[in-house]
Amino acid sequence: MSLHDDIAEVLITEEELHKKIVELGQAISRDYAGQDVLLIAVLKGATIFLSDLMRQISIPHEIDFMAISSYEGKSTESTGVVRIIMDLETNIRDRNVLIVEDIIDSGYTLQYIIENLETRRPASIHICCLLEKPERREVDIPIDYLGFSIPNRFVVGYGLDYDSIYRNLPYIGVLRPELYTG
Ligand code: IMP
Ligand code: MG
Repeated sequence: MSLHDDIAEVLITEEELHKKIVELGQAISRDYAGQDVLLIAVLKGATIFLSDLMRQISIPHEIDFMAISSYEGKSTESTGVVRIIMDLETNIRDRNVLIVEDIIDSGYTLQYIIENLETRRPASIHICCLLEKPERREVDIPIDYLGFSIPNRFVVGYGLDYDSIYRNLPYIGVLRPELYTG
């Protein structure tokens, strides 16, 4: 039994992910050249994306993490109730913040994070997100650096989980629906 057996379809291959992340890293390096930048990754889904992305960024930068909860157990939809379960170590006042997120679905999670970070008065806040599902969007959030727009399907791999597993798959795959509609 392998995790690969639970995948109905590979949506984005390892090669496609790598190519896109090289491009994102180049754009970020160019846009922030000569400036301070702090990458804030949202745990846990964005960790693999962050670790690949930061190695494609050629300018000095710092990283920090925050953890947010909006999902409960075996759910494929955000509860809409978002809370911080682990906060930043860094004081972001007057810093340029780049939020690194795995996926924007309804947008409620990122909206909450942005509103929360804005109260700390950073110099700027921008968004780098690997995936978005435009059909599911309920709040409008401008994404400065986007990897891929994907259809409205539940995906796992490359950091994204279902019920805390599948994060280690090296590609973005569609989970076989019978595994969660059950
Ligand atoms: P939102 O608040 O509805 O935008 O949900 C965003 C969060 O839901 C992301 O940070 C992910 O952790 C999670 N999420 C949304 N869609 C998926 C998916 O297809 N697979 C795995 N996690 C997802
Ligand atoms: Mg997430």
